[in-house]
Amino acid sequence: MRVAIAGGTSRTLGYSIVSALLATQGRYTPVILSREASITKKHSHGEHEVEVRYVDYHSHTSLIAALNDVDTVISVLLIPGPEWVTVQLNLLYAAEAAGCQRFAPSEFAFTSSANTMVDVLDAKNVVWEAVQTLVDEHRIDAARFPCGMFMNYLGMGCPDSGRREEALAGFEEGPFLFHLENNESPWIEVPLRSDKSFPSLTMTDIHDIGRFIVAALDITEPWAGRELGMAGDTLSFKDLITICQRYVQRPIDVRALTESQLQARLSTLAPNKIIPRMECQLAIVCARNSSVVPPILNHSCSVKATTVEDYMQRYWGLKSFQS
Ligand SMILES: NC(=O)c1ccc[n+]([C@@H]2O[C@H](COP(=O)([O-])OP(=O)(O)OC[C@H]3O[C@@H](n4cnc5c(N)ncnc54)[C@H](OP(=O)(O)O)[C@@H]3O)[C@@H](O)[C@H]2O)c1
Repeated sequence: MRVAIAGGTSRTLGYSIVSALLATQGRYTPVILSREASITKKHSHGEHEVEVRYVDYHSHTSLIAALNDVDTVISVLLIPGPEWVTVQLNLLYAAEAAGCQRFAPSEFAFTSSANTMVDVLDAKNVVWEAVQTLVDEHRIDAARFPCGMFMNYLGMGCPDSGRREEALAGFEEGPFLFHLENNESPWIEVPLRSDKSFPSLTMTDIHDIGRFIVAALDITEPWAGRELGMAGDTLSFKDLITICQRYVQRPIDVRALTESQLQARLSTLAPNKIIPRMECQLAIVCARNSSVVPPILNHSCSVKATTVEDYMQRYWGLKSFQS
């Protein structure tokens, strides 16, 4: 069964999903879709080479040609601005026209209700509305895959004894909520719920996401437009702080903020401050305790996902041996 990964060149989700597909030893054959004509027809992936198909996401003909023998399309695209919607809709309609059976848009965030609270992530819901229409009309099968926050944010600042690169899994964004990279005085920002209690947070290691996707492909009944959430771990900020504290081995400053303080911060951020606005709105998602992803996929597969404790032990635990 051939699975096309749109944006599969990425070192994060693309790498994780392609690796997991290759590990099925032929049950699923990955094909990477890329805009980069310069990437050779084969993409080196450890010991394997993976076919890369050049696509013009604005050409229906180009997309259909790339998808004509593909069973499932998984998108891991990230495109700043309105193009993200256009490109994914082009991909969706080409997948339908090419006779693909299943489609998954680029989700990998919190749930759809959380997306509505974040300007840039609401684009995911716009795409999903179109996907859902095709599902309802039995023109394609589809699912969306929320995973919570990438656990790899916790890898920023871990001891660079050769494992930091692995800890980050190709992730190159800046810190968010967890500022463990600040070695001298690490701090964690905690959005408080309305009753001042600490919310819970779902986190998933990028390395595990590919295996969850394979588990979803293995589901024989239709995905039927479901939100097939995966969760590496879901725990309260209180427990997260305790675990981080144990491995970072420095006092962690906890900076709690209420939703009204976050709203005040948001009001100072101009619309063109896209990333700070997104981070502030995501913190509000946490304050509303909408930062938990129901682990639907976990219940239907045997993937043993990395927990926060496992993750911190693996990538920060070394520090205790060095000092
Ligand atoms: N849960 C979390 O904590 C978290 C954090 C970050 C991101 N995410 C989500 O994860 C998904 C992937 O994000 P990412 O950071 O891994 O993506 P990324 O690496 O920035 O991009 C993925 C791929 O998109 C393609 N691409 C980039 N710009 C494009 C454009 N203008 N037109 C068409 N294709 C373009 C590129 O492939 P080619 O160059 O080969 O075409 C690239 O490899 C997104 O849905 C994002 O929202 C989640």
